[in-house]
Amino acid sequence: MPFYQRLGDLPRKRHIVHRDNGTLLTEEVMGFEGFSGLESILYHLQSPCRVVELGEFEPIVRVEWIPDAHAHRHIRTWDIPHAGDAISGRELLMWNGDVEISLARPAETMDYFFRNGEGDEVIFVHEGSGTLETIFGDVPYKPGDYIVVPRGTTYRFAPVGEQRYLVFETPGLITIPKRYRNEHGQLMEHAPYYHRDIHPPADLKTYREKGEYVVKVRVRDGYQTYVVDYHPFDVVGWDGYLYPWTFSIHDFEPITGRIHQPPPSHQTFQGQNFVICSFCPRKLDFDPQAVPIPYHHSNLQSEEMIYYVSGNFGSRKGVEVGSITLHPSGLPHGPQPGLAEKSIGMHETHELAVMCDTFNPLRLTAFARDLDDGTYWRSWYANAQDGDAAGDTDASGAGLTSHL
Ligand SMILES: [Fe+2]
Repeated sequence: MPFYQRLGDLPRKRHIVHRDNGTLLTEEVMGFEGFSGLESILYHLQSPCRVVELGEFEPIVRVEWIPDAHAHRHIRTWDIPHAGDAISGRELLMWNGDVEISLARPAETMDYFFRNGEGDEVIFVHEGSGTLETIFGDVPYKPGDYIVVPRGTTYRFAPVGEQRYLVFETPGLITIPKRYRNEHGQLMEHAPYYHRDIHPPADLKTYREKGEYVVKVRVRDGYQTYVVDYHPFDVVGWDGYLYPWTFSIHDFEPITGRIHQPPPSHQTFQGQNFVICSFCPRKLDFDPQAVPIPYHHSNLQSEEMIYYVSGNFGSRKGVEVGSITLHPSGLPHGPQPGLAEKSIGMHETHELAVMCDTFNPLRLTAFARDLDDGTYWRSWYANAQDGDAAGDTDASGAGLTSHL
């Protein structure tokens, strides 16, 4: 998506004869917004419509939890069991009409191919490395990578080692914020990342095998299984602006100011009525009078979900790696009692986290309910009663801790 790419063998112009060992290849234009949005053109050995067998359609079932009370939530996820594969193992935590947020801790490797037919995906790799094998070529990934997969991309995970993902799926488009790009699409000097930080497919492999291959496609709120008689990665060449890519959270260049910078300075991706932000290790505000942690704020029109990746959360009782805090709309939130005072004079933070702010309310699942600590809403009061909630903080702990 971010810029023009090409891999493999292409004819000199679009829509002209292109052969492979004498056989006319099938040209496919894969694009958005009719024929006006981003697109790529792929050249297949087989028609991509070719299906041998229609398999099952499995509707997506969401078990909703409607809490008795509207309150801030703390969901602990580190110890969730391994389950399924990289797709079937996605456990939905919260969702609305714009985004679904899931966790996956796969127990097994995919023995089929997958394509999200109606949604873009961002997969944040918390643990594990490997290769996302795709119809556009191999996309290597490692811990800290966001894997951005546009709809229509057939893929499968080839994981190495323990895997843990935070997954966003959206019926809208995932884009790079417009304010980071000039009118030509190039990332500007003030953007927190550059094209060199974006990694498109590195290697196109054309598979010519025949056999029986299962492809599951997410469509119409379910999964449709198809059986085809050729390897789905049959592309000889492609070019365009539409393809999967990775961006490492560790390549996000944090923006620091003399006084506090607001959350939009951490924005990494733009979605349909939501944003994804990266909170990275950084120097804190440098005015001697600065309060480096955020002011209290009321998310009157948004919900704020933060996933804690690594760092020292000792300053926040109970928050640990894999924790998720959810601050729903309609309520103020901010640092716990004592933290603002403690933060004055702090110089840096080492915390790492992914935040998703949605502009429409999120619904919760029974899976989230079972991981909810049930007491987080009371922590502002309880910690004030303790006398000094921030007593166990340290000089590195002010960043995200403050954002709770
Ligand atoms: Fe916040």
